[in-house]
Amino acid sequence: MEKDAPVRRRSSGDGADVIATSRRLNDSKTQSQYEPYKQAEWGFVNHWYPAVFSEELEEDQVEGVQICGIPIVLRRVNGRVYALKDRCIHRGVRMSAKPMCFNKETISCWYHGFTFNLETGNLDTIVGNPDDKLIGTTGVTPYPTEEKCGIVFVFVREDDFPLDEVPPLAHDLPLAFPDNSERFPHPLWPAAPHILHEDAVGLGIHRTGESNWRVACENGFDNAHILIHQDNMIVQSNNWVLPLGIRPVSNDCITTFEDDNGPSGLMQWLFSDRWEPILENETLGIKVNGVNGRPYRTSFYLPGVLLVENWPEEYIAQYEWYVPITDDTYEYWEVLVKRCPTEEEREQFKYRYKTVLEPMALRGFNNCDLYARESMQDFYGDGSGWNDEQLVDTDVSPITWRKLASRCNRGIARPGVGVTGSVKASSLRLRDVSEGSPSRYFVRKVDF
Ligand code: FES
Ligand SMILES: [Fe+2]
Repeated sequence: MEKDAPVRRRSSGDGADVIATSRRLNDSKTQSQYEPYKQAEWGFVNHWYPAVFSEELEEDQVEGVQICGIPIVLRRVNGRVYALKDRCIHRGVRMSAKPMCFNKETISCWYHGFTFNLETGNLDTIVGNPDDKLIGTTGVTPYPTEEKCGIVFVFVREDDFPLDEVPPLAHDLPLAFPDNSERFPHPLWPAAPHILHEDAVGLGIHRTGESNWRVACENGFDNAHILIHQDNMIVQSNNWVLPLGIRPVSNDCITTFEDDNGPSGLMQWLFSDRWEPILENETLGIKVNGVNGRPYRTSFYLPGVLLVENWPEEYIAQYEWYVPITDDTYEYWEVLVKRCPTEEEREQFKYRYKTVLEPMALRGFNNCDLYARESMQDFYGDGSGWNDEQLVDTDVSPITWRKLASRCNRGIARPGVGVTGSVKASSLRLRDVSEGSPSRYFVRKVDF
């Protein structure tokens, strides 16, 4: 928890001195407090990330993904998901590119038959070389997995991160409600559902964005950016009052927390008197239309997880992850979570998700965010944007996050080596571009 007692000052004029200078300024001293974040181009390792939806990995199916520059192969056996480093120790191809499995305990490399134990990653045998002295002496890194609410999570660790020190999944997920309702009251909406609730149903999509994962994170909880959503169908069709922006009017507008037995994150006290919605700009002569209030609140957690409470409808929470693939691509996860204790409620939620929520909220509304992040990429992609940006009061949110992330991450990913994206102008990447084939999260399967 933040130690310094918050000074409460109310907005009276232009708000220029409402937020303490130390929180508002982004000078070199402030920047030095988030130097580790600036170095985390490839993400934070030793954290839990969503890898695939459960339904994307059926029994015996094998898929390859890349997270924080680490190639990972997944295989489901007897219902359980195993994850190994997806780079054969022999000559470096990805096992997932042409799945070859001879039993339920191993996966073999399709090239020369190196065969790895799914549980331990050890080199158990070599198909055409069963007496080789390398067998039993080496292997690939195994990764812990958890499956909750229809999502397979993987603990993406450095090779030497001790398995007995892997924290629970809950430490890398949003706060749960009502457990935290007293600490973070929410008088305007019911307790947000959590993916660890037994009766929670999660429905969503994931897609690849062409920008750095940090640029994506900072868009998720940016209180000035709602301007881009003014024309969205879900806003207009519901007649929502969507402010032009939301301005902090108190030093305690954001609470950060670094719990020993829970997640590290920040809570933005939206729809309280600590933030002021801007409904008019006199200079430009514009006003917000709409009649229906749409209260919501955003909180953000390591390693880059967004919770939007009471969004896009009551009793639903929107989760987002911005999973680093390389330093210039990320997998954008958008998941709506609702508690559905009965089969009937489950079916109703699925129907509403398919007919309204996915097209209007996840695609219609969030498409604007995807474009906005990609529009920032040229500025931040070469690193210059972090020094050349000129921030304002509302940007207290990303500054707070950058400092928190610098303090609380469990490891900065090393730039990818020998993986997709480590050589920017690789001929394979250029072939993809010339074929009009977009960047992909799943491994490209060998087709023969
Ligand atoms: S590259 Fe995998 S066995 Fe040779
Ligand atoms: Fe947005």
